[in-house]
Amino acid sequence: MKINETGAKYSAIVGIGEKLREMSKESGKEYLYLNRGVNAVTNINLSKIIPLIDFNSNDIQVYPPNNGRLGLRNAINDFYFHSKTSSDNIFITNGGMGGLDLIVKTLKVNKIHISKYYWGAYTNIMKINSTPFDSYNSFDYLDKHAEQLSGDAVIICDPNNPVGDKHDDEELLKLVRKLNDNNVVIIWDSPYRLLFEDKTDKMYESLLEFNNVIISESFSKSIGLSGQRIGFIHTNDKEFNKEFNTNLLYSTNGINAFAQILVEKLLTTEEGIKASDDFKRDTKDGIAKNIEYLEENNLLAKEFYSDSKPIGIFVIVNKSFDQLLEANIGSVALSFFTQTNKEEAAKFARICVSVEHNKFKDFFSRLV
Ligand SMILES: Cc1ncc(COP(=O)(O)O)c(C=O)c1O
Repeated sequence: MKINETGAKYSAIVGIGEKLREMSKESGKEYLYLNRGVNAVTNINLSKIIPLIDFNSNDIQVYPPNNGRLGLRNAINDFYFHSKTSSDNIFITNGGMGGLDLIVKTLKVNKIHISKYYWGAYTNIMKINSTPFDSYNSFDYLDKHAEQLSGDAVIICDPNNPVGDKHDDEELLKLVRKLNDNNVVIIWDSPYRLLFEDKTDKMYESLLEFNNVIISESFSKSIGLSGQRIGFIHTNDKEFNKEFNTNLLYSTNGINAFAQILVEKLLTTEEGIKASDDFKRDTKDGIAKNIEYLEENNLLAKEFYSDSKPIGIFVIVNKSFDQLLEANIGSVALSFFTQTNKEEAAKFARICVSVEHNKFKDFFSRLV
């Protein structure tokens, strides 16, 4: 059989998880799996939401509209954009990964620029779509080179995966304005942001001003529903939206109706809002305690946070993958997330800090 080889690689992080589970089985020892990118302080409690859903209905059992259920798109418009956009500009996707793949497929740009430390899926998605890519060292670099980047696209991920750092919102908006005005497409992929924010967050509404911005969002991280495979994209650009809608149809034939109704209930009902708020509060609390513990014990790699704040759900620690493994802690070497100076990056590791604090302390005390 002949195949099209794009050069994209299966996720190495999945492989690390499999290896760690094998090691745990062989040794009989417990491991702390901080290599993963999921919120594990708590689950979102859906027990009061499920009774609100009628499973014996066409709503659940029959094909949903291609661009997503109107009820959910209106709920997203209200929650994220304070009803300042048209729900026609919102498309429900099967999560951030699928949404980004279709964005890259739909966009015609010379090149897409990603940050020096980046989520590995970006480059693989670009390889699959034969889209050239490059990396930028800092937001300052983008600011200084905005003119040269005309006709290209950049991905902004804040808080960043893998670094887990947050930049100042005003500075980010200034940068977006400059890029937008220089005909650079901004792919705003910040699925960790809304874990730390609620409905009062103004960022998405502020981004509506810019016609070259495409927002890609996900419910995997902000409300812990990675198993439901659901997210959305938004842009003002009518031509992009028309083509995206067609690509979405032949890629998905509509997104799981149960996941759509579940998220709609979480965004609009009293029970749903409480469940989301409780999840966010407990998760943020666990994350903050874990980062504080790392800082107090000089385990946080401070050099990565000179002009930004470590907020999670990931951070970079000044221990290598092997050093952490000796303490039965799973991580991912920072060298997996960069093409720049990989040897130096291998001295550091990315860990997920969204886990229960006492357990985290118990494992990390072995390194203190
Ligand atoms: C930066 C970033 N964007 C998007 C995603 C996509 O998440 P999902 O496909 O679960 O929505 C992830 C997941 O790890 C991510 O880290």
